[in-house]
Amino acid sequence: MSTHEDPAAQSPPSADPTPPGITRKSLLRAAVATGFAVPLIGTAAAAVAMADDRSAKFTTVPGPAGAPLAVTPACHDGDAPTIDQTEGPYFEPGSPQTTVLTGPGGGTPLTVSGVVYGLACQPIANALLDFWQADNGGNYDMSGYNFRGHQYTDSQGRFSLTTIVPGLYPGRTKHIHVKVQAPNQPILTTQLYFPGVPQNSTDTIYDPRLLMTVTQHGSGVAGAFDFVLNVQQDPGPPPTSSPPSSPPPTSPPPGGGTWQPDHTYAAGDVVTYGGATYTCLQGHTSMVGWEPPNVPALWQRQ
Ligand SMILES: [Fe+2]
Repeated sequence: MSTHEDPAAQSPPSADPTPPGITRKSLLRAAVATGFAVPLIGTAAAAVAMADDRSAKFTTVPGPAGAPLAVTPACHDGDAPTIDQTEGPYFEPGSPQTTVLTGPGGGTPLTVSGVVYGLACQPIANALLDFWQADNGGNYDMSGYNFRGHQYTDSQGRFSLTTIVPGLYPGRTKHIHVKVQAPNQPILTTQLYFPGVPQNSTDTIYDPRLLMTVTQHGSGVAGAFDFVLNVQQDPGPPPTSSPPSSPPPTSPPPGGGTWQPDHTYAAGDVVTYGGATYTCLQGHTSMVGWEPPNVPALWQRQ
């Protein structure tokens, strides 16, 4: 199945003219990313050859006036939260918890990694990321969970996804869908894109602010993208050589019922919380801050 998402739901794409600055917050980011991030490319000369002949060559793309476009949007002073985009017609709740998306059809290996930040550029631990994408032929699995999966950021806000480069389908450039949610916060639904794909210029949903930084990685490619969620944070003390601390735990809302933290729930489980009944959409281990009213990606109210 391969049909369009609704381009009319989106605002026109716009470039991100803001170069990453070296600030206290970007220093925080650098400290967090040490030892985790994939190699990045920052110039148009660093073109990446693709093994898949269906795919475009991935390159960094020129910005206005031929200047290199800023690489992966970095979390720095004055940076805006990651923009949202349409969910499209192919989201399915209940994806497995995994960092590896698989399915038939082959494809160019791809890893996507990055950090989930809040507005003060502090990493967010235990943020939920739910990815879904087309296979190498541009088709979504609507009867199972091929190329679908969710995961949580680690204590330093990091995530890592192993998958393939998605195929093209009519009306769309290459993209990966994702929902990102910090504990007890609203869901950000958005999409990630690849630089240098010719269809970027004809896809009305595409937005360069959502471009990953892409580099060759063995026989495949590696994408990097950091999310900035619209979540207020205490900016904390000035930077030191030590990594920043995790955000403070959230206080659970008034509850009561059969739901419990630190319990393994499976899709279809039914609990009560705060006088309401909820059905589990995705298998997970519960925790304080992930009470059913706070995580609609995990619990559906009856
Ligand atoms: Fe899509």
